[in-house]
Amino acid sequence: MPTVHVLNGPNLNLLGQRQPEIYGTTTLADIEADCIATGRDLGLEVRFFQSNHEGALVELIHTARQEAAGIVINPAAFTHTSVAILDALSAFDGPVIEVHLSNVHKRESFRHRSFVSLRADGVIAGCGPQGYDLALRRLALLLDAGG
Ligand code: DQA
Repeated sequence: MPTVHVLNGPNLNLLGQRQPEIYGTTTLADIEADCIATGRDLGLEVRFFQSNHEGALVELIHTARQEAAGIVINPAAFTHTSVAILDALSAFDGPVIEVHLSNVHKRESFRHRSFVSLRADGVIAGCGPQGYDLALRRLALLLDAGG
């Protein structure tokens, strides 16, 4: 069964409490449980991580090089700033899907630029927590096509 890593960036640990008018009331623990259940349906083993630190996310991507066939990543604010995360993802061989809960294109202009999109094979924004489910379904398809 292929393993996929779902990586989450800064402040996503506060989902459910943080700006619910933008991010909703679903917690990150709820999203993790849904991802694991979706993975089970799709024949994927899902491992789920969150960090508020850029370097820790870079190291999680390095770990994924050894352990994961594909990555789903919501880099949160680092989406718009981090060449280091882009470079780490560029050193990962499998498919990468970028997810944002909110529609970043409907928000401030600084959120319209994504460094991560330069590497991502697909981008899902504005679908709320369902975006993770859609991303896993896309990864399963890409991994199946590749295998
Ligand atoms: C986000 C969008 C980012 O612009 C923001 O910094 C986040 C969350 C989203 O999921 O909508 O923290 O990635």
